[in-house]
Amino acid sequence: MTIEEKLGQLVQLPGGRQKSPNSKINDDERARVRSGLVGSYLNVAGAAETRALQRIAVEESRLGIPLLFAMDVIHGYRTIFPVPLAMASSWDPELVEGAAHVAAVEAAASGIHWTFAPMVDIARDARWGRIVEGAGEDPYLGAIIAAAQVQGFQHGGLGKPDAIIATTKHFAAYGAAVGGRDYSSADISDRTLNEVYLPPFYAAAKAGSGSFMSAFNDIGGVPATANRILLHDVLRDLWKYDGIVVSDWMAVDELRNHGVAADGGEAAVLALHAGVDIDMASNLFVTALAERIRADPALAADLDTAVRRVLLTKAKVGLFDDPYRFSDAARERTSILTPQHRTAARDAALRSIVLLKNEGNLLPLAGSLRKIAVVGALANDPDSELGPWRARGNVDDVSPLLPALRSALPKGTQLVFEPGASPTSPDGTAIPAAVAAARDADMVLLVVGETFDFSGEARSRSDLGLPGAQQTLADAILDTGKPVVVLLMNGRPLAIDRLAERAPAILETWFLGVEAGPAITDVLLGRAVPGGKLPVTFPRATGSVPFYYNHLPSGRPADADLGKDSARYHDLSITPLFPFGHGLSYTKFDYGPLQLDRREVAPGGSLFVAIDVRNSGSVIGDEVVQLYARDPLASVSRPVQELRGFRRVTLKPGETRRLRFTLTPEQFAVWGAGRWRIETGSIELMAGSSSADIRSRGSITISASGEGTAPAAAIPTAVHEERLP
Ligand code: GLC
Repeated sequence: MTIEEKLGQLVQLPGGRQKSPNSKINDDERARVRSGLVGSYLNVAGAAETRALQRIAVEESRLGIPLLFAMDVIHGYRTIFPVPLAMASSWDPELVEGAAHVAAVEAAASGIHWTFAPMVDIARDARWGRIVEGAGEDPYLGAIIAAAQVQGFQHGGLGKPDAIIATTKHFAAYGAAVGGRDYSSADISDRTLNEVYLPPFYAAAKAGSGSFMSAFNDIGGVPATANRILLHDVLRDLWKYDGIVVSDWMAVDELRNHGVAADGGEAAVLALHAGVDIDMASNLFVTALAERIRADPALAADLDTAVRRVLLTKAKVGLFDDPYRFSDAARERTSILTPQHRTAARDAALRSIVLLKNEGNLLPLAGSLRKIAVVGALANDPDSELGPWRARGNVDDVSPLLPALRSALPKGTQLVFEPGASPTSPDGTAIPAAVAAARDADMVLLVVGETFDFSGEARSRSDLGLPGAQQTLADAILDTGKPVVVLLMNGRPLAIDRLAERAPAILETWFLGVEAGPAITDVLLGRAVPGGKLPVTFPRATGSVPFYYNHLPSGRPADADLGKDSARYHDLSITPLFPFGHGLSYTKFDYGPLQLDRREVAPGGSLFVAIDVRNSGSVIGDEVVQLYARDPLASVSRPVQELRGFRRVTLKPGETRRLRFTLTPEQFAVWGAGRWRIETGSIELMAGSSSADIRSRGSITISASGEGTAPAAAIPTAVHEERLP
């Protein structure tokens, strides 16, 4: 291979945009492929289109090296599933894995080898728009979900016909953006980086993720895309990762904006030497590196390392055996948007819904209602159900709420719809008509929140309230005194203190994908029981973020008594609006005491923590049993709570299930001075229905010190279930 041909393998170019794939493929692009100066494309899709371009690479270039085709298949390719933050609300790793597998089957059938997912960035600041793309604020839940997505996308292992290369992104700490402003610096301690932001990346790497993506942001002034400590010392030396690293879009060139590279050539050298194997979109590797590599043997070695990784990846996917195996028109015709895939999307939507409030058991809706007023422009916005990253999703594929609800209601129940107000306009002139419809109805479904375009990339918000005139609409509707059920459609936690105080019932529906309407209808009518739990804290006010459950106590822990000086706002309650892990049901669950098989455990050992959970209500329901821990006395201050286990269970009325969690001291190790230290002492355990609804407590003792080998939050807790008579 010539230096230019080697560099060509490290070049990834856009073949189109998300909304218009293949739109950039022209004769010039085909000539570039023939010259061997490009190794992969993003946004080239379709069995025919990928086959045509692949044929040029394989049959008309000097070396015949096949191309990789990539796309942001985040939560579905054509069958769009709930957005990732919604699916994280299911607390169901199997569901998440299944959704990723369906996405892979459809993408692979359309010639896609590689998806830029999972996004595993921990997000503690709801102002950050990309919170919608991840699994929320907790590193343990985030690590479990990250591994599940990798296993789903790479189902059966790379080389299988419906396995596509996962990309674990954005490495790293992209969600720690100062002020929640997308792309801003992450200025965090080494301990926070290792204990909070890295665990999901570690879990994804150990799950076999075929690639990583370097992030746009800097960490303490060192841009991730030029961060050799991160991309080489941690990822390669410490974690023994052998996949490829692709930069984020133009992130190599943007090293100039960071002020660490004087020109494109310096930027390319920094990125290649740091450990970036593929430069996405800036094309600097080909245009700016050849001469530098001829002059610098060390850089030439970096080049060979990167090329080797890329070629190995193409081999793993099977492209050297059959470069056209993914570009199969017959498979494309039969594998996409199938009834089975829609059924999977509906199940995912059902399990992602979170019941936040249900005063007086207003839900499920009574069958005897004469008239229901559905109010809010979002009730008629199927496009938003696809979320901000929708690959080849099509709004016409969405089963919207209004027709689904209309067709499911009993014959005698009338449904009227009034837009009232929209997130995208301050115009409140339609509110009177909505109020009139509410007055004339027995019950109001108030649908408020955000459109899909209020979250996602470059969509940070400085105000977490209801945008547009929606708050005015909500107040007017609630002033009618009619029973109101709020349906939230949103891509982030919202600061809706006033609405939450006044509305008797609130369902969090996020953006639920192509089966949103039927899923919401099933829950409203009681055909399905909501069982989701929040993967993020809902703050009471924008001014209180970042606000997260696993915080340090401080020297003056927040106290409800304003007479005491403590870590709180003087004008705001110290509790969240809705806590991490919160979610109600149409039934009730009772918890037994924590049962420990021993009180002490040493490094290398493990112990069982069992808890019996009973459905004490009258309908079947799901409960996510959560196990938290706290180290009350350590060499450094430790979080007031840390999730270290969970299991979603379905229980019939009167049924009891015994859950047995297996814990190890390594799961409580503390990061410091470059290692995971296991410290002796007591660990408090808490089991409950949310981080703020603890039902049983206990404590164990770690009897000897030691050293861990993995991020504590990335060590999965085995859970055994036993049905009790
Ligand atoms: C975007 C995003 C990244 C995505 C990439 C390709 O800017 O940051 O998540 O995978 O570009 O679309």
